[in-house]
Amino acid sequence: MDDCLKRLERRFLNMYPLKLLSPDVLESEGIEVCDELYENLCNLLSNQKEQDTVFKHYILDDTSSTCISLKESRNIISQGTTGLHSWQAAQALADWCVSHSEELRDKEILELGSGVGLTGITTVLCCELQSYSFSDCHAAVLSTLCENVLLNLSTPNEKDCHRFVDNVTKTMDNTLLRIKHKNTDVAVMNLPWADVTKNTVPEVDFVLAADVVYDTSTFTELCQALKNLLHYQKTVAIIACTVRDQNTLQQFLLTLAQYEIKIVQIDVPSSRPTHFLLPQDVLVNIYRLQSSGQ
Ligand SMILES: C[S@@+](CC[C@H](N)C(=O)[O-])C[C@H]1O[C@@H](n2cnc3c(N)ncnc32)[C@H](O)[C@@H]1O
Repeated sequence: MDDCLKRLERRFLNMYPLKLLSPDVLESEGIEVCDELYENLCNLLSNQKEQDTVFKHYILDDTSSTCISLKESRNIISQGTTGLHSWQAAQALADWCVSHSEELRDKEILELGSGVGLTGITTVLCCELQSYSFSDCHAAVLSTLCENVLLNLSTPNEKDCHRFVDNVTKTMDNTLLRIKHKNTDVAVMNLPWADVTKNTVPEVDFVLAADVVYDTSTFTELCQALKNLLHYQKTVAIIACTVRDQNTLQQFLLTLAQYEIKIVQIDVPSSRPTHFLLPQDVLVNIYRLQSSGQ
């Protein structure tokens, strides 16, 4: 029976170009996607196998034509997470960072929910930062993130860090990788939002996050983490949100307001400069957050 189902699924996947059914594509056409379609599509996509891991190459449309190579999944959900695939909000946030490289110069940055690392790797390559800490909480995502950071930001010697990564993953230390890219200290951390408590919060200049606003059940811990991080006067958060469902986004903005976080939408998507040779067909809003005490 299982075998029959698998064969059917394979036929279905071959017959229908799932890209066309992708929520990204449907939503960019203004089509509301019903929950059942989402659920069935997610089941099909998460059943696809390891061979769907690919290396994607992102070429930056600047004078350097920098190329970033990322190991990621072709599927929007794999191994039970959305984090193994780069989302358009990551690209939009990277665009924002590259366009604001002067504001970011010599700054310390922490990224929440980094996924496979598109925003951070672009920002470290294009801006002169003091430090950049990637973070996530899913084991497979963290492992792929470490590989991508090493692939794009390390010197040949540091590539040996793989062994170090394997060892520390087994300890309680939440820093999985530490390398230097030119003058920037780069780290990858296992940092679930629930662990960003008042006592453990690092003092950074910027907190970044792309496409972390989609599941209402996580809003309380995400907003509490942001509140704790924004406790320092100097800290600003820049959050890129894909507009999939206005109600979900509104609920997130309301929850932020309950945590006394000041929200300003900082640019209009249509006028945003893009540094990637990729289509920008999904609506992504970018917000600047600060503690409302400032
Ligand atoms: C949709 S993906 C976005 C990944 C990446 N920022 C991008 O835009 O391509 C959401 C990411 O948030 C991470 N995430 C979800 N809940 C989290 C939590 N409670 N703590 C830390 N990370 C979390 C997931 O593991 C995943 O990598």
